[in-house]
Amino acid sequence: MALVGLAALAVPSAVFAQTATAMPGNKGFATVQAIFVRSCSACHDWTGSYDTIVAGGHIIPGSPDTSIIYQKITSDEMPQSGDKLTADEKAFIKGWIAAGAPSTDLTISVPAAEGAPGAAAAAPAPSQSFLFFPSKVAFHEVTGFTSTALFLGAGILGAIHIYDMIVPAHQYRDLIGWDEDTGNPAVRSAEIVNVWNADSAMRWWHVGLVISGETLYLGDALTGMSMFTKGQPGKLTKHDIHRYAFFTHAGLMVAQIVLGFLTTDAVSRGDHDMMIGLGVAHAAIGLAIPAVMLTAGLENLLLPE
Ligand code: HEC
Repeated sequence: MALVGLAALAVPSAVFAQTATAMPGNKGFATVQAIFVRSCSACHDWTGSYDTIVAGGHIIPGSPDTSIIYQKITSDEMPQSGDKLTADEKAFIKGWIAAGAPSTDLTISVPAAEGAPGAAAAAPAPSQSFLFFPSKVAFHEVTGFTSTALFLGAGILGAIHIYDMIVPAHQYRDLIGWDEDTGNPAVRSAEIVNVWNADSAMRWWHVGLVISGETLYLGDALTGMSMFTKGQPGKLTKHDIHRYAFFTHAGLMVAQIVLGFLTTDAVSRGDHDMMIGLGVAHAAIGLAIPAVMLTAGLENLLLPE
């Protein structure tokens, strides 16, 4: 033993780093299970089989950072007592989850252990900073909630804008005693066009908020797509719900933009009935969009795996 120790000391550190990250017993899932049996089975009964280890959302295949088992071991919360896992063991489990948590014993590629010599030169791990954010997940969360707020703000401004047009138009109607049944529709159209042209600032704020929301949302959608997790057969996970919400939002948003143009067109032509029909639909979807986004964000933050 002493000789082996001496030999290890004599090996140049770069070579040592390589052999260390290669993990002597790289037998895929078998190695992972051996670590769990040794370090976790005293307190947890899920270490017995592949199914029980992966069950219950303990592992999100492809996504170490959102897998609770990896979170617990990388923070050294687990094992609750006894020796913590070594950096190599953590890196191995991380690599296994990142590889999709295969049930086979085939060799898997393992990221350099954190803190190990040479780790800094290794490819950036997914947990590392993204743009100006501590992680890609943080970026995704901030852009998601911020774009939700911007869309909600756009909706509120839109509602104020409509109100600002309705009030003077109806005052004018009452002033001249215009009547729904007998009044000349051309007079009404002219007044609608009149209030529409009176104030366009609100309209551009509305459009500006929508465009800023969309821009942030594009970043959100792109990072989200890179974080897609594999589905678990027969199970509706919170990630599935999040994904459905994403597609629902995308569909609503397309409909909303088209409706926005049509509504604008109806108002600028002074088409009262068309404007009301389209406007109500535009307002309803405008409320639904931030509601879907907020639900998707909170659901993903608050629901357990
Ligand atoms: C000495 C006992 C003990 C050992 C050993 C231990 N745990 Fe735990 N573990 C606990 C207890 C107690 C809880 C529940 C309390 C808590 O969440 O803090 C827990 C909770 C957890 C949870 C969150 C709850 C769940 O089941 O979803 C995970 C994940 C977990 N442990 C993983 C591990 C892993 C991985 C190992 C081995 C590397 C390990 N634990 C070793 C005692 C232990």
